Amino acid sequence: MAAEEVLALVEADRRAFHAAPRPEGRRDPNGWDLAELDRTLAAVEDGEMVGVGRIYSFDLVVPGGARVPVGGVSWIGVIPTHRRRGILSAIMRRQIADATERGEPMLVLTASEGGIYRRYGYGVATWSTAVSLDATRSEFLREVETGGRLRLVDEAEAAEKLPMIYEGARVQQVGSLSRPDEWWACELFDLPIDANADSGARFYVLHESATGEPDGYVAYAVDGTWQHGNPQKAARVRDMAALDPGVRARLWRYVCDLDLVTRVESFTTPVDDPLRWLLVDSRQLSRSCTNDWLWVRLLDVSAALAARRYAAEGRLTFEVVDHLHTDLAGRYLLEGGPEGAACVRTDRDPDLVLGVQELGAAYLGGVGFSTLARAGLVDEATPGSLALADLMFASSPLPYCGTWF
Ligand SMILES: CC(C)(COP(=O)(O)OP(=O)(O)OC[C@H]1O[C@@H](n2cnc3c(N)ncnc32)[C@H](O)[C@@H]1OP(=O)(O)O)[C@@H](O)C(=O)NCCC(=O)NCCS
Repeated sequence: MAAEEVLALVEADRRAFHAAPRPEGRRDPNGWDLAELDRTLAAVEDGEMVGVGRIYSFDLVVPGGARVPVGGVSWIGVIPTHRRRGILSAIMRRQIADATERGEPMLVLTASEGGIYRRYGYGVATWSTAVSLDATRSEFLREVETGGRLRLVDEAEAAEKLPMIYEGARVQQVGSLSRPDEWWACELFDLPIDANADSGARFYVLHESATGEPDGYVAYAVDGTWQHGNPQKAARVRDMAALDPGVRARLWRYVCDLDLVTRVESFTTPVDDPLRWLLVDSRQLSRSCTNDWLWVRLLDVSAALAARRYAAEGRLTFEVVDHLHTDLAGRYLLEGGPEGAACVRTDRDPDLVLGVQELGAAYLGGVGFSTLARAGLVDEATPGSLALADLMFASSPLPYCGTWF
């Protein structure tokens, strides 16, 4: 796509999401709008853009710590007058071809609705929880002492230091994605129009170690009001990363201790975040929803399975069913363990038979094969292979992706 077409792309996508046109003065495409136009598609009818879709190039941390290049599918939208005619399906097929040609072993996406993408071979690989904590009853079991200090910094310093801390932290977090410079500039700092409509001022707090190294941050907004003369304000955590669990605990403590704040909310939190275990009364932490976050669509099973490490040594043959990307369908022999893995095509009898969606869902260790089997989604041809697959693919902490795109 050419740069001159990006404004039309932005407006087509906004129409698909029932948003008003960008207001005057905010129309110029930002860096994130302009990124990777060679991976940006539009369906056009009589000169009008009626459907859009794009891919951002990321890398994904997989078990064992490797960073695997992936295509991040985004901006999927078809304007309301042109739906259910196959435009999305055409975009999906083109994206699979594009990523395959580039040698990306998988595509990933976050979905507006949970019912759309399974038909295209995507499975839910990470989950995310929105939490809400009564700050007035948030006492911790133990005092948090890191030996470091907290500093409230301005946006310029945050823009310089947060990406560095995030990069350092994410190697420990399976499921996390790289964040290009444009992502930081446009998604976290210069918020797109509307995104911050219900939240107030934004703040950035850095944690620095005893030796002065930045090793954690929390980005949050505070909004709310006064009721009968009493403050009813909420601190909304937008992003948090730390190199060390103690630093993360201190950042949670910081937002809970903010004067005038009665509630702490976080719209995306790992399902197994230790926060509830820090609390004297874990019941004060409620989960408003736990939803699918990162969906994985495998394109090259051998490359993807060989790229990760496994919690236990084992050898398994998978028969993978794929009705859309039929080149992928077939049998694969995986031999892997904590030190390395190999995965090749085979004609051996399968141990497990499953759809490409299920292998994508289990790939990062976010769900056990035995759970999927209990849902009728995986067939165990060789007794014991479900238990072995569960052991091998397990990942702790659970995979988590805190990046929206
Ligand atoms: C979701 C969306 C892109 C679908 O586009 P579309 O061109 O109408 O989709 P297609 O005609 O190619 O539909 C393909 C299939 O997906 C199904 N489908 C489409 N949208 C769906 C939805 N929201 N939920 C469940 N199924 C859906 C269709 O029924 C069709 O099923 P079939 O293959 O069994 O016939 C479009 O409805 C849209 O823009 N929605 C609002 C914005 C949005 O949610 N975008 C997704 C961002 S992640």
